[in-house]
Amino acid sequence: MKQERDAGREIWTIGRLLDVTGQYFRRKGLDSPRLDAELLLCKVLGCERLKLFLDYTRPLDPGEVDAYRELVRRRAAGEPAAHITGKKEFFSLLFEVNHDVLIPRPDTELLVELALDHLRTLKLEAPRILDIGAGSGCIAIALAKHLPTARIVALDCSPAALAVARRNAEAHGVESQITWLEGHAPQAIPGGEFDVIVSNPPYISEAEYRELDPGVRDHEPGTALLGGNDGLDIIRCLLRPEALRLTSHGVAWIEFGWLQGPAVLELALAAGWPGVVIRKDLGGRDRCIELRSRPLPAPAGLVLERDAPPVLAALQTLDAPTADLTSGESP
Ligand SMILES: C[S@@+](CC[C@H](N)C(=O)[O-])C[C@H]1O[C@@H](n2cnc3c(N)ncnc32)[C@H](O)[C@@H]1O
Repeated sequence: MKQERDAGREIWTIGRLLDVTGQYFRRKGLDSPRLDAELLLCKVLGCERLKLFLDYTRPLDPGEVDAYRELVRRRAAGEPAAHITGKKEFFSLLFEVNHDVLIPRPDTELLVELALDHLRTLKLEAPRILDIGAGSGCIAIALAKHLPTARIVALDCSPAALAVARRNAEAHGVESQITWLEGHAPQAIPGGEFDVIVSNPPYISEAEYRELDPGVRDHEPGTALLGGNDGLDIIRCLLRPEALRLTSHGVAWIEFGWLQGPAVLELALAAGWPGVVIRKDLGGRDRCIELRSRPLPAPAGLVLERDAPPVLAALQTLDAPTADLTSGESP
């Protein structure tokens, strides 16, 4: 009976199924239609993406097509591909994700790159790193993988998120380098000084949250997204100098929303941070603030007056990590 039913069915090769699904997802307005089509098929076939291309002309059996159709239906209904597959790549590492954690975003890789650059320059024997709002553990684990002697403390207020982070650390073999702490920043930030502090805190305002893509709002945890009325509640707390204790050569990077740069800069200056730079992501958008407990020597032309209006405009164009905002001297 089943054989008879299958006999009349259309033959789908891997390549044809991907083409048709990619077009369908594109019409649905998904951000990465072809990639999502591939990731879902990998899930059904239990293979790596490369295998799809090696077997491009392979016909799929009806059971595989049916299983794929169900995943396509879920994706088209707004469920993130990472939740359907249970995985997301970050900094070229694969992380388990579920409804308890934010799905790691490519923009956040900037924090890892900046921290790695800084620590490679310092050449410390065993750098101390703090990650505030660890989520899936993606930042802490990426740093641990690249800095085998680093000692990392990773804090999150969600026990469910920490459970995912611990599993990810085990999967990547770095659990001995990371201490997971449950609690709310800033109160739960551990004592002692750190060579690097990184944080991707929740920073979405209540108004933005209401307008958020339902694929994000309905599937990712509100505690990972919502930063209060203007989105800056947690960032405001973190920017208090007593919250972030850095060694004399230490640097902190805090991610924020791409339109929040001017507001975050004002907060950092008002809090009295002596060395402050706004860093941009690959798309050229303000993405994180860099804080030092000592001002950087600034090259000619980049010494900015603390309260001068051009500060914001000048910072928008800065690629180099070198703006001393406290000297009070004009360029
Ligand atoms: C935007 S997610 C970032 C997760 C992960 N670091 C990443 O970049 O994908 C923010 C995380 O901060 C946690 N969080 C929110 N408020 C917090 C607080 N006051 N103290 C500690 N963690 C907090 C949330 O549970 C969530 O896991």
